[in-house]
Amino acid sequence: MSTVQALDNPDQVMQRAKTENLISPRFYTTDYAAMNRLDVSALRAEWDAMLAEYEGDNNHDHFKRDEAFASEVKPLPPELHQEFLDFLITSITSEFSGCVLYNEIRKNVDNPDIKQLMTYLTRDESRHANFINYSLRDYDLAVDLQALKASKAYTYFKPKYIFYATYLSEKIGYARYITIYRQLEKHPELRFHPIFRWFERWCNDEFRHGESFALIMRANPHLLRGGNVLWIRFFLLAVYATMFVRDHTRPILHRAMGLDSDTFDYRVFDITTEISKQVFPVSLDTNAPAFRRGLAALVEARMAYDAAATRGGVVGRLQQAGAALKGAWHFAKLYLHPVKKHELPAQIRVAPVW
Ligand SMILES: [Fe+2]
Ligand SMILES: [Fe+2]
Repeated sequence: MSTVQALDNPDQVMQRAKTENLISPRFYTTDYAAMNRLDVSALRAEWDAMLAEYEGDNNHDHFKRDEAFASEVKPLPPELHQEFLDFLITSITSEFSGCVLYNEIRKNVDNPDIKQLMTYLTRDESRHANFINYSLRDYDLAVDLQALKASKAYTYFKPKYIFYATYLSEKIGYARYITIYRQLEKHPELRFHPIFRWFERWCNDEFRHGESFALIMRANPHLLRGGNVLWIRFFLLAVYATMFVRDHTRPILHRAMGLDSDTFDYRVFDITTEISKQVFPVSLDTNAPAFRRGLAALVEARMAYDAAATRGGVVGRLQQAGAALKGAWHFAKLYLHPVKKHELPAQIRVAPVW
């Protein structure tokens, strides 16, 4: 059952983009002085090679619509339409969240390595966000990005948390876009919107963004050792669990692509986990039955929480508190589930081969 609430007018779209809850995309600020002190010289050759790739800008001509685009936008069944809009809005919010963060870092540092990188990341994410907005405009909707920037709540993260979180969201973003692209490449009859044709070249941007944070962390290996490994475990779980719960509010969207939310998410986890071995010494055992039961329990707790919120009143509030406690309990159990351990490879960069 879809739990996406109706999105019919621009106000509801902005409300959805501004939503603050455990599974909504967030905006971040950080310690710019610490960002400015970052040193990547331990990996100078890899770093310069990566910046040259950004400079080459192989996607400069990609985020333009072709002639067929408009003719491929068709009316969708109402529930699919709503879930697709929700997908577009959470995607644009995530893309734009990256854009704002990278741009703020760019403006606040003079360290040439970091400033240069952030300039390229901002360029890419702004293209991505704007390209999604064109698709909302086809439905006479849009996210007002400047208003969103001004009104969204910002979460402060220390630089190391920014690295763990953005590395993962870039790589998981890659894995999501490529999984959708490959599925619809195999089943073009299920491609219900033209934007999915853009995902292959698009996801290579996200892949490269992730590579940048991998290099920053590998150049500063204390970020990947000792007590920080507990933080890495936390961010792995937070990012995976958030995606899993959010995707399970949109079952119809995945079914329309010939997938179900479970199949889609576990494929995305497999790809992300494989890639993340380039930098993280631990990974989550997402194929263990107990781990999977824990994720399913989180979805159930979330559904119960939403149902209680809709019910309202004293009973509703009590039930909401109960569901939140249950969710926290299952999250803690998942956190304590044994992780897999890896040696970090000598060759850091990975190719987007999925
Ligand atoms: Fe992006
Ligand atoms: Fe990105």
